[in-house]
Amino acid sequence: MLLEGKIAIVTGAASARGIGRATAQAFAAHGAKVAILDLDLQAARDAAAQLGDGHLGLAANVADEAQVRDAVAEVLAHFGRIDVLVNNAGITQPVKTLDITGKDYDRILDVNLRGTLLMSQAVIPSMRAQRSGSIVCMSSVSAQRGGGIFGGPHYSAAKAAVLGLGKAMARELGPDNVRVNAITPGLIHTDITGGLMQDERRHAIIDGIPLGRLGEARDVANAALFLASDLSSYLTGITLDVNGGMLIH
Ligand SMILES: NC(=O)c1ccc[n+]([C@@H]2O[C@H](COP(=O)([O-])OP(=O)(O)OC[C@H]3O[C@@H](n4cnc5c(N)ncnc54)[C@H](O)[C@@H]3O)[C@@H](O)[C@H]2O)c1
Repeated sequence: MLLEGKIAIVTGAASARGIGRATAQAFAAHGAKVAILDLDLQAARDAAAQLGDGHLGLAANVADEAQVRDAVAEVLAHFGRIDVLVNNAGITQPVKTLDITGKDYDRILDVNLRGTLLMSQAVIPSMRAQRSGSIVCMSSVSAQRGGGIFGGPHYSAAKAAVLGLGKAMARELGPDNVRVNAITPGLIHTDITGGLMQDERRHAIIDGIPLGRLGEARDVANAALFLASDLSSYLTGITLDVNGGMLIH
């Protein structure tokens, strides 16, 4: 039990086959009480109920400051503290540079980057006050190699910015014993690709992955569990690659 008695928020954890859901499951299995924040209230509540008793499902758009503030206040009112935040909510869009509209840019940057900032801002005061906390930010291999497979340049930019934001927060919050780390998943088998991957393309991609398979959501969840728990007590500001060797650097 790595998270016995801990309270964790996982954003974007309603998606049934997603990284957030697998992370919430791993945390619950290790003794945490989890608050799932996602766009749809019923979906968030259902996901929380599936974790077992005592978990919470709340609706919040991570890019909306008032919704984030209210949701985090509700978590604090319900559980009394927050030990872990996983900034997992994210969206992508597979378009080329010249096809990125202003609206696309705003949407992708807002959810991936502004959402990470707003959620972190909302939990930091209570983590600071208790002098402990772990924030895990979901970036992407796309940030490191200039495009993953499904993200456009604006997605790569947003995920690279998440790495910068996480490192700067790690430096600032270290003296308060609040750790901030990032995960850079490679290609993980979830719904985010929207069924875009045909067999032929899939095989070509797998050929470039030394471990010879796409990632599973639980591969990333286990990395998040490590970063959330005291096993990683002397790690802050790191980028943890979970990519099967797709990018070795
Ligand atoms: N799947 C991959 O290959 C991969 C690779 C690298 C990084 N990532 C990142 O991992 C994270 C999870 O991805 P996934 O593949 O599980 O995706 P997913 O689409 O299965 O899940 C994303 C979840 O985020 C929620 N969400 C979207 N916008 C939101 C908002 N504004 N506020 C609150 N919730 C919102 C969705 O409702 C959904 O539940 C994302 O940040 C993604 O960019 C995924």
